[in-house]
Amino acid sequence: MTLSIEKKIVSENEKFISIPYERVCNCKETALNCLTGKEWLKSQIGLWEFNYEKRDIRDKNKHPATYPIALAKKCIEVFSHEGELIIDPFVGSGTTLVAARDIGRNAVGFDLNQSYIDLAEERLGQLNFLGTNQQFPICDDALNIDQYIKPNTVSLILTSPPYANLLNRKRKNKSMRSDDRKNEQYLKVEQYSQDPRDLGTKNYEEYGEMLKEIYSKLLTLLKPKAHCVINVPDFWWENQRITLHITVIEALRSIGYEFRNTIIWDRRNIVNNIGIFGYPSNYITMGTTFEYLLDFWRPE
Ligand SMILES: C[S@@+](CC[C@H](N)C(=O)[O-])C[C@H]1O[C@@H](n2cnc3c(N)ncnc32)[C@H](O)[C@@H]1O
Repeated sequence: MTLSIEKKIVSENEKFISIPYERVCNCKETALNCLTGKEWLKSQIGLWEFNYEKRDIRDKNKHPATYPIALAKKCIEVFSHEGELIIDPFVGSGTTLVAARDIGRNAVGFDLNQSYIDLAEERLGQLNFLGTNQQFPICDDALNIDQYIKPNTVSLILTSPPYANLLNRKRKNKSMRSDDRKNEQYLKVEQYSQDPRDLGTKNYEEYGEMLKEIYSKLLTLLKPKAHCVINVPDFWWENQRITLHITVIEALRSIGYEFRNTIIWDRRNIVNNIGIFGYPSNYITMGTTFEYLLDFWRPE
């Protein structure tokens, strides 16, 4: 637990952290978000595209797998109101927290790795901040989140979880053109840690079970009809399609979440130098060109 968060625990008797979670806008009680009709209409399109900005972390030595601030911002705008509480159970470099601060939401993010928590704190420290909302990165296992956050207070759970032990191998950069392949990441293992609690060290079956264990605790923290968005790709592994998105949908459905929407994160604008793969006999779509944003909610 970081020092800043220790200060937020109100008293010995109050076990949860003290953070606001009620909306501060004047929207209608039944409205899902603060969007205008015009903005809502645009968001109905199921393909989303984002650019990275200067503040995004793209240095893989700092963190190997970050999503853009713009992606987190869009999800937060669509699924919450100003002043509400967002949590990210696998916060990594703190992108969700940066986005939440930009648009006036309270947010708490968790990660096992202290160096990522330090990075998240550093990023938050760099922002000019005049608002009253709060964002905290906390170093702990996602399994323990219910020890920090009060039930029925969260308006959105947003994250990109680790991808089973699919990254626990030397990177070959097969999707790149041969002359680009031997870049800085070539033959590196892009794993977050070898900590046994790290979801990225689990085999596929254990991974599904751990997701269920973590997300069933998180379900009780959500307000009724509050959303939960999970960003995952599928993989190509030993000439087989690994349908991670199906694993996630099945795991969450089995513990009481209702699956609401598939949104495709169209990444064509940020991948370049795609190499030819499988030609002429084995047709394989490039996983790097799109990822899923899977939207669930807590049924009423
Ligand atoms: C895909 S990254 C998240 C990246 C993040 N969206 C960003 O933009 O920086 C997944 C993170 O989950 C963390 N992690 C893995 N297992 C965990 C666990 N059991 N509890 C908390 N964090 C965990 C890893 O350390 C890693 O930073």
